[in-house]
Amino acid sequence: MTSLKIGVCGLGTVGSGVIKLFNNHQGLIQQRCNADLQLVHIGARRDNAGCDTSRYRVSRDIFEVVRDPEVDIVVELIGGTTVARDLVTQAIQAGKHVVTANKALIAEFGNELIALAEQAQVALRFEAAVAGGIPVIKVLRESLAANVVSGVAGIINGTGNFILTEMANAGRSFDDVLAEAQALGYAEADPTFDVDGTDAAHKLVILASIAFGIPLDANAPIMEGIDTVTPEDLNFAKELGFCVKHLGIARRCGDAIDLRVHPTLIPSNRQIARVDGVLNAVMIEADAVGEIVLTGPGAGSLPTASSVCSDLMDLGKVLNHTKIDPAPILGVPSDQLQALPLVPRDEVSGVWYLRLVVEDRPGVMADITGLLSERGISIESLIQRPPVAGSSQVTVVILTDSVACGRLDAAICDMESLPALSGSVVRLRVESFKEV
Ligand code: HSE
Repeated sequence: MTSLKIGVCGLGTVGSGVIKLFNNHQGLIQQRCNADLQLVHIGARRDNAGCDTSRYRVSRDIFEVVRDPEVDIVVELIGGTTVARDLVTQAIQAGKHVVTANKALIAEFGNELIALAEQAQVALRFEAAVAGGIPVIKVLRESLAANVVSGVAGIINGTGNFILTEMANAGRSFDDVLAEAQALGYAEADPTFDVDGTDAAHKLVILASIAFGIPLDANAPIMEGIDTVTPEDLNFAKELGFCVKHLGIARRCGDAIDLRVHPTLIPSNRQIARVDGVLNAVMIEADAVGEIVLTGPGAGSLPTASSVCSDLMDLGKVLNHTKIDPAPILGVPSDQLQALPLVPRDEVSGVWYLRLVVEDRPGVMADITGLLSERGISIESLIQRPPVAGSSQVTVVILTDSVACGRLDAAICDMESLPALSGSVVRLRVESFKEV
């Protein structure tokens, strides 16, 4: 039985979850991977009151873990991309295997770290980096390895889904729900990453790389956050039979790739529309298996720790038989990844929800529909609210037929130059996933 000594760096939400799993399930962990996995060293700048570290060596300098000759696997759970990048780089250079939950690190510096790990013949695993407790990387990289994947789409930020769900279902304010998500340990240290779409974009980039065999490119996705979604839009969406979810979408379009994260109206009767709260969902469309949907907790201490431990146990199993993890880190060796062009934003087609506030006088609606018609944009449905007492303005909501983004931009620009229009046009994408 292989003996592997583990050092964990970081004792925050995920780190403390990993320690708890080792404290509570040590026997089960060893039995199920048939390896003697021992947590020996914790690097943490401060204690975590909710976490019993009494059985382990604890260093305040997290780099002590990397320098510890006893440690075979370094688990990086400090987050961020500066110290974490140094830590992981030094661990790999010291010939240690690395497990991390750090999506920003993998999305932004994964190409260099993977090349380094391949050269050093050590493993670099990051199941916990995407969708918390859902084993989606393993499914894409291993279970579906015989498939050509055509698309991956899903709710991949738990904080964002928690906020949108609570705003829509309980009428709570954005700030109130965000504060709760932070208290529950769902949100990033800098919650703007959850809100502006950066966190979801990082995860999407990792999924796309494995799904399509392309290098990691953190800047590739079109990115829109949930901060523009108002209670008014959530109510209109409900009235139209939709709910609003923040989605990451990666699709193969011929020889190009469409990558985007944005708030999206989804028909309320679709399975993914019912994935609420901190839950995540990832739909994968592939040629042999068809469509599968994975759902589960996308954030939180123990769910994310479950994925970290699964990586550790996988390494235990693999290193029982060989000194090198034979599985390519992104599914294919990094020198065989092939960059594909991105579908230009203007050419991404889709259905749109538009909300605008206009003067309530004859001819205004005709002007708006006329401008859409001039651009060849067909209207699928339209709601006009009566003016509120004392106001001369009305709110109009339009659902378009499918149109290329560039053409919609031009029509919105025309509409925003109408004197009758107040402010700017709110626009959200609509996706009608087939029933599964
Ligand atoms: N902040 C992330 C989320 C944590 O809410 O999904 C899990 O990656």
